[in-house]
Amino acid sequence: MVLFESNAAALIRVICEEKVMAVTTGAGTPKQYIAQLQAAGIKIYPVVPTLKIAKKMLTLPIDGLIVEGMEAGGHIGTETLLTLLPQVTASTELPVIAAGGIYDSNSIAAVRCLGAQGVQAGTIFLATEECEVVPRYKKFIVAASNPGTTIKKSNAGLSARVLDLGENNQALSLRDAVVKGNVVTGAFMAGQVADRIKRIEPLHKVFERLL
Ligand SMILES: Cc1cc2nc3c(=O)[nH]c(=O)nc-3n(C[C@H](O)[C@H](O)[C@H](O)COP(=O)(O)O)c2cc1C
Repeated sequence: MVLFESNAAALIRVICEEKVMAVTTGAGTPKQYIAQLQAAGIKIYPVVPTLKIAKKMLTLPIDGLIVEGMEAGGHIGTETLLTLLPQVTASTELPVIAAGGIYDSNSIAAVRCLGAQGVQAGTIFLATEECEVVPRYKKFIVAASNPGTTIKKSNAGLSARVLDLGENNQALSLRDAVVKGNVVTGAFMAGQVADRIKRIEPLHKVFERLL
């Protein structure tokens, strides 16, 4: 969950009530919610974009880290996964999950070599038949070609990687992209791996490629 959202405390309450297995946190520190989450038996995995933030999170009683490279879709930092991941895995015995650019089993093998114990992927699931974004969003992913994405400031003032839809796209709202397919206001968040996605597929095909 995104911690800067004004309803973060309410979302944490729901997460605890529903007893979800694990929560990933970003854009802020989960420090004030840790006791509450742990009392509900929920594992906490902060998403980190730098070694500095990783080290800060490692001072908290968390269960693992998600290291996200700047090739990822959505809100990002400035470090690449290839350089950041081994620095983080060398700093902790906790499980580290790699995020950014995951496409297939070779991607998974690559991040395992750098010490990751798992992966988190987002973009590859957007162009699936089951994904509930508007069809136009999926078509834009398939049409993306190197470089199909760009970095823009989101309405929260943070850098976000979105599909490059030209100057007129203000990339203000993910909801406007997902629900309305609005090419002026919509933030069509997607990672650089969009360049590798050539067709809309059923989800099971994506998992076959990953495994
Ligand atoms: C459309 C979209 C929305 C996302 N929203 C969130 C979010 O709300 N919170 C979050 O922590 N990460 C979010 N992410 C990042 C993903 O959780 C994941 O770390 C990222 O997509 C991995 O990189 P990839 O896109 O190259 O697979 C989002 C990514 C995309 C593509």
